[in-house]
Amino acid sequence: MILSIESSCDDSSIAITSIEDSTLLFHKKISQENDHSKYGGVVPELAARLHAIALPNILEEAKPYFKSLKAIAVTNEPGLSVTLVEGVCMAKALSISLELPLLAINHLKGHIYSLFINNPEVKFPLGVLLVSGGHTQLLHVKNYDEIEVLATTLDDSFGESFDKVAKMLNLGYPGGPVVEEYAAYGRKSNFKFTVPLANSSKLAFSYSGLKNQVRLATLAELELNEQAKCDICLEFQTTATKHIVQKLKKVFATTHFDTFAIVGGASANQHLRGEVDKLCKINHAELLVADMEFCSDNAAMIGRCAIDAYRLKRFISLDDIDVNPRAGY
Ligand code: KG4
Ligand code: ZN
Repeated sequence: MILSIESSCDDSSIAITSIEDSTLLFHKKISQENDHSKYGGVVPELAARLHAIALPNILEEAKPYFKSLKAIAVTNEPGLSVTLVEGVCMAKALSISLELPLLAINHLKGHIYSLFINNPEVKFPLGVLLVSGGHTQLLHVKNYDEIEVLATTLDDSFGESFDKVAKMLNLGYPGGPVVEEYAAYGRKSNFKFTVPLANSSKLAFSYSGLKNQVRLATLAELELNEQAKCDICLEFQTTATKHIVQKLKKVFATTHFDTFAIVGGASANQHLRGEVDKLCKINHAELLVADMEFCSDNAAMIGRCAIDAYRLKRFISLDDIDVNPRAGY
């Protein structure tokens, strides 16, 4: 079995995964969302302190598995440096005390592997849309090592733009679920936002301009009542999704994917799923998404990714493991 640790942002999580058949044997996650909500976003130092409390508590519950462990896996990149360090320190301590090898796992790769948890039929290659709080990327994933980035964001990410819109409308943190909920009550209104990079042939994303359009709309209103907030959320969510679909159409025009997947925290968004699904059907691609509980950050996806790393013998020494907050793949 492999014990995996995730602490790249505001979720403390530990999982145990079977090496033989990749099944998830234990998984626990403590989310800090309520602690950060009043600040409208994640406060890194607070997140680190909360990991230092939560991770040892979860580890206590994983102790019965210790005698069956063959490796310790940990997210070491990308993420918040002060929170990544919490997981990496715990992984090093476990590696020394239990005399087990270490596996350093890339968080973004982990999100891709969320598709494989409880789903052994999923196979590479895959087209992947990764939408999280830190990333918006279109990927061609050929295998564990070969991940081609087809498009990425020039500024904010899809999930982050939901967080910022929620903050502007005083809806709390994280913004994604609450903006989606408000959008469900939105009506066609006078709020109109333009789709970013609509006239650009560039294969890239940009959300800072859309965020600014929302800001200007909120400033123009004398009093933002609940219905106006719902209407803004609907127009914002529709425009943010159209932007992804427009760029995805360009990729589908040149590349065929038998299977296309959406991963990352924002892949929970039902409107996005629905629109990408329509596009997949037209292009004869099957759409895959992870189980809802594995869309946002969790150690189960890190553990599933670690199974492949273990089979490929990608062990790293105690001296070499380091945190890389801004790493790609
Ligand atoms: O993958 P994740 O848990 O953490 C990162 O790796 O960043 O993604 C969190 C992000 C947040 O920005 C959150 O607002 C967004 O995912 N999110 C959503 C939804 N649920 C979570 N965005 C849009 N719609 C949702 N339903
Ligand atoms: Zn994530």
